[in-house]
Amino acid sequence: MFDSIFVTGGAGFIGSNFVLQLISQSVGKIINYDKLTYAGNLKNLISLQNNPRHVFVRGDINDAEVLAETLARYQPEAIVHFAAESHVDRSILGPEEFIKTNVTGTFHLLEAALAHWRLLPAQRRERFRFLHVSTDEVYGSLGPSDPPFTEATPYAPNSPYSASKAASDHFVRAYHSTYGLPTITTNCSNNYGPFQFPEKLIPLMIVNALAGKPLPVYGDGKNIRDWLYVGDHCEAIWNVLVNGRPGETYNIGGQSEKSTSMWCGRFAVC
Ligand SMILES: NC(=O)c1ccc[n+]([C@@H]2O[C@H](COP(=O)([O-])OP(=O)(O)OC[C@H]3O[C@@H](n4cnc5c(N)ncnc54)[C@H](O)[C@@H]3O)[C@@H](O)[C@H]2O)c1
Repeated sequence: MFDSIFVTGGAGFIGSNFVLQLISQSVGKIINYDKLTYAGNLKNLISLQNNPRHVFVRGDINDAEVLAETLARYQPEAIVHFAAESHVDRSILGPEEFIKTNVTGTFHLLEAALAHWRLLPAQRRERFRFLHVSTDEVYGSLGPSDPPFTEATPYAPNSPYSASKAASDHFVRAYHSTYGLPTITTNCSNNYGPFQFPEKLIPLMIVNALAGKPLPVYGDGKNIRDWLYVGDHCEAIWNVLVNGRPGETYNIGGQSEKSTSMWCGRFAVC
């Protein structure tokens, strides 16, 4: 279906699950472009070590030159963009890195994608997609009696992380409406599953509970979050990549809304 797909952040939690799923799809080469920050781990992809269909390139989405060279060399027919700073608590302690990676980095990737797309032969240009993976946190937070988010929910980001993702979503949308780049955005809920870095809620709770340490819950724990298995998320991304309409946004959820205080009483006294 695609002879070559360029994935950013494919050594991170969701990206590596996606790359492992892609290997079983009708895709020729997977170009995995990742800076390998603290959140990237090539051990997630150990099973692809000798697979010639997986090409790993250590690179930064802010490095316009390396991005352009890599796109020119591998001529991908799609870009799936996971690379980001993704942890809310870190964004509160130091927002600048989030602006550099999530906003400026996405801008550089869009610029490189646009230049690449414009040079593709007509048929491949028609097929090309830029899929931007974002979060439902751009819509703000849900109270116990609020209806779920929809694609029409107004943006109301509450943390530097979600503000940086919201800004990147707007740039992705603008590159479609201004330049015609065939972009699609997906906004998903909280993922869980293999390879998640243990700073995130579920692995953190498990690791702390096993060690008999306190379980940190934000505020009164009454905020509602939807939980999505990472494998289901990756299947949905593939579906959107193949069947989605350029210029559209697709929300991806697990229909499993829970308050953070679900942890209370099971493992912790909150
Ligand atoms: N994890 C979730 O529950 C969740 C929920 C909604 C949306 N998302 C979004 O999904 C995407 C992936 O999330 P994740 O949880 O896998 O993140 P992650 O933090 O586990 O992985 C991010 C990856 O991006 C790479 N990276 C960071 N900066 C880079 C740069 N400048 N250039 C190239 N690579 C860089 C890292 O090395 C890492 O491999 C993110 O865009 C995030 O906003 C995640």
